[in-house]
Amino acid sequence: MQHFEHQVAVITGAAGGLGLALAHHAASLGMKLVLADVDANALEVALQELSADGTEVIGVVTDVADPAQLDRLAASALQAYGRVHLLFNNAGVGAGGLIWENTANDVEWVFGVNVAGVLNGLRAFVPLMLAQGEPAHIVNTASVAGMLAAPMLGLYNASKHAVVGLSETLYNDLKLTGGPVNCSVLCPAYFNTGIAASERTRPDALHNTEPPTASQRTLQVQLEKAVKSGNLSAAEIAALTFDAVRAGHFYILTHPAILPAITLRAADIALQRNPSDPYQHRPQLKPS
Ligand SMILES: NC(=O)c1ccc[n+]([C@@H]2O[C@H](COP(=O)([O-])OP(=O)(O)OC[C@H]3O[C@@H](n4cnc5c(N)ncnc54)[C@H](O)[C@@H]3O)[C@@H](O)[C@H]2O)c1
Repeated sequence: MQHFEHQVAVITGAAGGLGLALAHHAASLGMKLVLADVDANALEVALQELSADGTEVIGVVTDVADPAQLDRLAASALQAYGRVHLLFNNAGVGAGGLIWENTANDVEWVFGVNVAGVLNGLRAFVPLMLAQGEPAHIVNTASVAGMLAAPMLGLYNASKHAVVGLSETLYNDLKLTGGPVNCSVLCPAYFNTGIAASERTRPDALHNTEPPTASQRTLQVQLEKAVKSGNLSAAEIAALTFDAVRAGHFYILTHPAILPAITLRAADIALQRNPSDPYQHRPQLKPS
């Protein structure tokens, strides 16, 4: 996809962090926007911010874990603009701690948003994008946690590995169609957003009855520190993402410092060695 002006972008998790930065970047290119987020108040603020700048934008309160709400989002996008050219399956949440300490509610919440949320987006939007027969692009937000398995982030790592795997499959499936729809997977390292405060959007029905364990409290402190230490802003990551879409790049790895760890992991697999320390190249991020 090369041209963005007057084209339509749908962004999930658009009311904050990276989603909002993607929305601002898309607006700066003259795109029309459909913003989706589960947080109705934050979505309203984002809508006002963007429309004040003259951007054509609608907002749809959407929980990506619910397939029916993604179908409704697609219908709203079509009703407003008649077309969808760029889909960011971006909404995501984090939960950590030792992997055996994650509750069934943690699993349902994290996999519901991070994995089912992306699949629900594909089911609702890919058929209409293919039917349009125009250049279109899908960006699924994974993470370097989709390529590395750092300790105490097991649930998040597993969900983001799933996003990388389903995105690689999407790439191959789209190729089979021979149509003009392309896709990318976005894998950033830490950057400063509200991700460490993901609990704010956890549905009431999936709250834990027990307080966080020691490993979960340790991870929370580490996560807050790591997110704040990010050397790229959400706006910079959004700009790199649009560059990659324009260039037709599938893997969007925004933090080159992480590449040696990914290469080491790939070599461990190919050589059938036991896993190396994923923090070997960045010991300052290791939970202690
Ligand atoms: N911040 C980082 O360090 C980092 C690193 C790698 C990947 N990511 C990924 O980037 C994406 C965006 O996260 P962020 O860092 O901007 O965090 P964020 O918390 O600032 O933004 C996430 C947005 O998603 C929304 N959301 C949460 N649950 C939702 C649901 N069920 N349905 C719809 N919207 C929902 C939130 O309300 C929020 O507006 C996520 O997929 C995250 O996993 C973040």
